[in-house]
Amino acid sequence: MKPYVILNAAMTLDGKIATKTGSSEISCKEDLIRVHKLRYEVDGIMVGINTVLEDNPKLTVSKIPAKKEDNPIRVVVDSKGKTPLNYKVLNDMAPTIIAVANDYKENKKIKELSKYADIFPSGEKQVNLVELMDYLYKKGIKTLMLEGGSTLNFSMIKEGLINEIRLCIAPMVVGGKDAKTLFDGEGFDYMKDSVKLELKNSYNTGKDLILEYKVLNSKND
Ligand SMILES: NC(=O)c1ccc[n+]([C@@H]2O[C@H](COP(=O)([O-])OP(=O)(O)OC[C@H]3O[C@@H](n4cnc5c(N)ncnc54)[C@H](OP(=O)(O)O)[C@@H]3O)[C@@H](O)[C@H]2O)c1
Repeated sequence: MKPYVILNAAMTLDGKIATKTGSSEISCKEDLIRVHKLRYEVDGIMVGINTVLEDNPKLTVSKIPAKKEDNPIRVVVDSKGKTPLNYKVLNDMAPTIIAVANDYKENKKIKELSKYADIFPSGEKQVNLVELMDYLYKKGIKTLMLEGGSTLNFSMIKEGLINEIRLCIAPMVVGGKDAKTLFDGEGFDYMKDSVKLELKNSYNTGKDLILEYKVLNSKND
């Protein structure tokens, strides 16, 4: 069994989730409330290591009234254990799981991280996301919010592990061939291989447009 995974992201009209310098303040204030309501509802929230290093996020519920117990369990996908010990994702506001790769699990840094987080090893050089999902489900995470970035988003959708996409499109354009898009990774070669979606809902919040899609043929339907 695997968690029901909702990918949530904010992008500019040209599909960027950050500028080439890593700046990623995209959502309007109304959208941030929507995001925090979703964080409140889910059991877990997951990001890739580059998002942690770039944004130093807390990944807690802070824009709506909430208690510490309302914060989702945080999951960082970090094969080599690069999460800095003084970063907010390791604070005491919620439990944290760091998913590492087997090749690095004996590293001194990962041993240190284990004082602050639950360490889950899988895969060889990179985290095995299928095994990670099974583990998270067993830990009680039945619903998981995926909050990026582009590389992890692509690996997750390629593996068929995303059930739903909730997307905020802000009326902004930033361009830049090196700016991160909603899905990067290695990509597919042909349109016929693309992951198919079904639009379920769309509405405006503040200045932004929200689109909600079901991902067709995900592994845990
Ligand atoms: N606008 C938004 O909604 C939003 C949301 C989140 C993030 N962002 C932006 O996204 C950017 C970061 O995106 P990113 O693509 O550079 O990084 P990312 O997706 O956050 O992290 C990718 C890293 O995760 C690790 N990883 C381990 N196992 C993996 C696997 N099986 N598949 C994929 N990744 C795996 C890899 O590093 P190791 O090999 O070292 O483990 C990989 O390089 C930041 O600029 C951030 O601000 C925007």
